[in-house]
Amino acid sequence: MTTGTVVITGAAGGMGRPAAHRFAAQGRALLLCDLDAARLEALAEELRPAAGTVTVLAADIAAPDFAEQAIAALDGAGIGALIHTAGLSPTMSDGARIFAVNYDATERLVAGLLPHFTEGGCAVLISSVSAYMLGDPALLASIRDFVTTGSRDGIAGYMDHPGMAYAISKRAVIGIVERDAPAFGAKGLRIASIAPGFIDTPMGRAEAEANEQLRGLIGMVPQRRMGHGDEIASVAEFLCSPDASYVSGVDIRVDGGIIGLLNAKGSGQ
Ligand SMILES: NC(=O)c1ccc[n+]([C@@H]2O[C@H](COP(=O)([O-])OP(=O)(O)OC[C@H]3O[C@@H](n4cnc5c(N)ncnc54)[C@H](O)[C@@H]3O)[C@@H](O)[C@H]2O)c1
Repeated sequence: MTTGTVVITGAAGGMGRPAAHRFAAQGRALLLCDLDAARLEALAEELRPAAGTVTVLAADIAAPDFAEQAIAALDGAGIGALIHTAGLSPTMSDGARIFAVNYDATERLVAGLLPHFTEGGCAVLISSVSAYMLGDPALLASIRDFVTTGSRDGIAGYMDHPGMAYAISKRAVIGIVERDAPAFGAKGLRIASIAPGFIDTPMGRAEAEANEQLRGLIGMVPQRRMGHGDEIASVAEFLCSPDASYVSGVDIRVDGGIIGLLNAKGSGQ
């Protein structure tokens, strides 16, 4: 049985909230992080009867000291799991802010929390099917180079475009998982990511409303519908369970089959 607090970012959101419910039902201690204190406290009240201790942290994950704030809120408790769902989609901000929240904050968070995990723990990051829609081999090589060396030369030119900044940030999140699996493994820990398809959350609905091309893709999904936030949370719960004890360094698509379909048609990556 894995012990340790479950840290959930974006806990008040469409994927974070069902994840919080699932881990609360296991009786786990939770640290719920999001921007808005009132929404977090309302969620914590719902969860307290089932969960162990529930602590909330209302803060911006892009703050340079966010990992330190999370560690302080843990008050000495070890981390059993990280479910990192906080993020911004293309219609929510400009490219630079999207990249800072989705990638830079994620990298700092993973590095900052790694020493505080308990044996058997797992970090689950959230990528996106957008990461699989980047086809240009030169750009993919630049993203690999960026994740490995920190050099932004090959990606900086795309940051004016929110959609590209989003897709590149999510591809680079997959890069973090592949890059950091050895450091996690050395400590008896695992790290993996989930690539959601089109999920019926506040974010997913806003993107679909704003983007006709996206609505066309949703219409092509082999499962013939958008996904639910809990269909992402269930995979996150699996990844953090002993049943996933050999799953690390990998991105798992939970997309109703859309990327497989695009690949089969020759229009995916
Ligand atoms: N919904 C989709 O269709 C979809 C598809 C692919 C990937 N994703 C990814 O899944 C993750 C979760 O998305 P969701 O659909 O649950 O979105 P959501 O908007 O419902 O929830 C995201 C939560 O993150 C919080 N958040 C945003 N920026 C933050 C910040 N700087 N600091 C702290 N908290 C912050 C928000 O307040 C919100 O509660 C995101 O990383 C998103 O990019 C979503």
